[in-house]
Amino acid sequence: MFSKEAIIDMQAATTGFLKKPEAVSLKQIDLLRDVLRFHEYRYYISNDPLVSDKEYDELFTALQKLEAEHPEKITPASPTQRVGNSLNGDFITVEHLVPMLSLENSYSAQDLLDWDKRVKGLVNVVKIDYSVEPKFDGASVSLIYENDLLVRAATRGNGTAGDEITTNMRQLRSIPLSAKFSKYGVQKIEIRGEVLMTKDVFKKYNEQLALQNLAPLANPRNAASGTLRLKDPSMVRKRNLEVVLYNISYLNLQKNAEANKSTATETHDGALQMLHDLGFKTPASSQKLFGQIDAVIEYCNSFEKKRDTLPYEIDGMVIKVNAVELQQRMGYTTHHPRWAIAYKFAAKQGTSKLIKVDFQVGRTGSITPVAKIEPVVIAGATITSISLFNEDVVTEKDVRIGDTVLVERAGDVIPYIVKPLTDLRTGKEQKIKFPVNCPVCNDTLVRPEGEAVSRCVNINCKAQVVERIIHFVSKDAMDIRSFGEANVRKFYEMELLKDVPGVYTLNYSALSTLEGFGNKSIENLNSAIEKSKTQPLHRLIFGLGIRYVGETTAKTLAKAVNHLRELENYSEEDLKNLDDVGEKVAGSIYYFFHNKDNMAILSRLEQLGLNFKGDKKAPAEGKLSGQNFLFTGTLPTLKRNDAEQLVEQNGGNIVSSVSAKLNYLVVGEDAGSKLAKAQKLKTINILNEDDFLQLIS
Ligand code: IVH
Repeated sequence: MFSKEAIIDMQAATTGFLKKPEAVSLKQIDLLRDVLRFHEYRYYISNDPLVSDKEYDELFTALQKLEAEHPEKITPASPTQRVGNSLNGDFITVEHLVPMLSLENSYSAQDLLDWDKRVKGLVNVVKIDYSVEPKFDGASVSLIYENDLLVRAATRGNGTAGDEITTNMRQLRSIPLSAKFSKYGVQKIEIRGEVLMTKDVFKKYNEQLALQNLAPLANPRNAASGTLRLKDPSMVRKRNLEVVLYNISYLNLQKNAEANKSTATETHDGALQMLHDLGFKTPASSQKLFGQIDAVIEYCNSFEKKRDTLPYEIDGMVIKVNAVELQQRMGYTTHHPRWAIAYKFAAKQGTSKLIKVDFQVGRTGSITPVAKIEPVVIAGATITSISLFNEDVVTEKDVRIGDTVLVERAGDVIPYIVKPLTDLRTGKEQKIKFPVNCPVCNDTLVRPEGEAVSRCVNINCKAQVVERIIHFVSKDAMDIRSFGEANVRKFYEMELLKDVPGVYTLNYSALSTLEGFGNKSIENLNSAIEKSKTQPLHRLIFGLGIRYVGETTAKTLAKAVNHLRELENYSEEDLKNLDDVGEKVAGSIYYFFHNKDNMAILSRLEQLGLNFKGDKKAPAEGKLSGQNFLFTGTLPTLKRNDAEQLVEQNGGNIVSSVSAKLNYLVVGEDAGSKLAKAQKLKTINILNEDDFLQLIS
């Protein structure tokens, strides 16, 4: 899409703009837009960004500022125009230019051999070139571009008509708002593709849901298709979806463009090449051309082996006749094109019987229903136990004890019950009853308003204590390999382990009397435990099991401090100023660090020699070196985060409270008690935003 020269030009323009983003002139507005589009392409299509997010944001803000000053210069394809400000109303139904048919399925090499014969017979030729690419497992969409502009996006719907979702699709930076189809003589085009959520994004998204005790989404496909029809476009943007384009369903050439006909319109791989060239994400390197069906089969099989290593889910391969002229001769049935076939990989679903439901108590006291099913092997793993997450999920799926259930296990996704097969019910199935008392300590359960789970609020409930220790030693937390869930349970039962600090004061001579604990295994356990004392702080923070604090927030907290105990001085407001820490999370962290029992545990862990040192970077050298700053109230133009970054970039330090150590308090609107306190201390310089900007200019 971008030649070497173009890349160099774009990079030179970027450097120029970044020197003084606020000074970009109106004359340069088109270049600035191209530069932003270039960086979107590098980030979203090539996965190889050349600027940091912050630098991109600076350029974006510069464009927003220019457009605000000169609204007459705004164009629909400007990078700023993705941002939908208003909510979607009810989605309108729109008819596709060409029906969105599905594909015929095949499941074996023999199926493909038969199909090869069939298609050759249809057009009476002996050799056909096949293009083979992955069958992406997401939600299909159609995009229409007219005169180089994206004019409409729609869901598949019933195949003939779908929901119009243009505003939502404009949020995805892997979809160009404009593309030079005119270069190929194309006046109007309808392209089909698949909206995907990568496994990574999906995992993070589900982690967020889990931290809030919400039921995770079943798989990336559901996550993608649910996102397409969200009312709020800004939520769509946050979900980080991608789109892969793989088919041109309608094409209208410009007048006099017939002569311009090129491989782009004559072959499938030519079409993909054109789309790639115009800045779309396509199957690209995973698409290959073969002259023999045997080679097609081999490629499909080799791809199936790679399936779990790909960043996104695929459920098979798609084989397409490459020549458009042959495709046209073969035509369509009412359901699918005759010139293409899906080769489906081994199913990741199976059926089993639900025997009973157990209720597990988590480390935060949440009660999770867990279905025990008759063993079923899916994609190589035997499954006997499946989480049903919470009461709402059980009610919504209406699963009952005795039901035959459909189970899916896709990629990295944990197994889940898709649905009960209600046609197979005998009438003997029983509804699942939820307990009113904790199954472990018998305390009355509570279900806070607005939450989907019941909770045991007895902090000393045995189950919670054990789960907290299991979490602490687990792989993503302190990673004490030889400890493991079974040992935690065993040591706890034997009263050799009572709480988290107890991990570091185990009575090894008592352990040595246990079966299976020879010298060697005790030595291993001891050295793994000792080694864990030097784990980076974010692992310890995650291991503490603070409600709503997942690995990402734990990293944010560890980066914010020089020492864990600094967090005791953070107010909820200070916490909310950290990346991705909202009201609920801030409240939970604040509560944790102001609870006597938790602080006693931290003191013990510190005394035991665990690493409490944070990852806060040493300040840069600059004008503000050695000076401590604090911001309070709302500043007129700067965001709190940006202002703090400016301090740090200039060598200054951000502190969290007013004390004699503070040198500058920068005050915005609605400054509260901090201002009063600073005024009392008399030694602190009190600045407004202007004074502050002058100080660093
Ligand atoms: S071609 C006219 N190519 O699979 C045929 N479809 O089960 C156009 N899909 O509805 C479809 N990856 O949503 C094509 N590489 C690929 C695909 C693909 C996924 C979806 C598509 C289709 C469904 C059929």
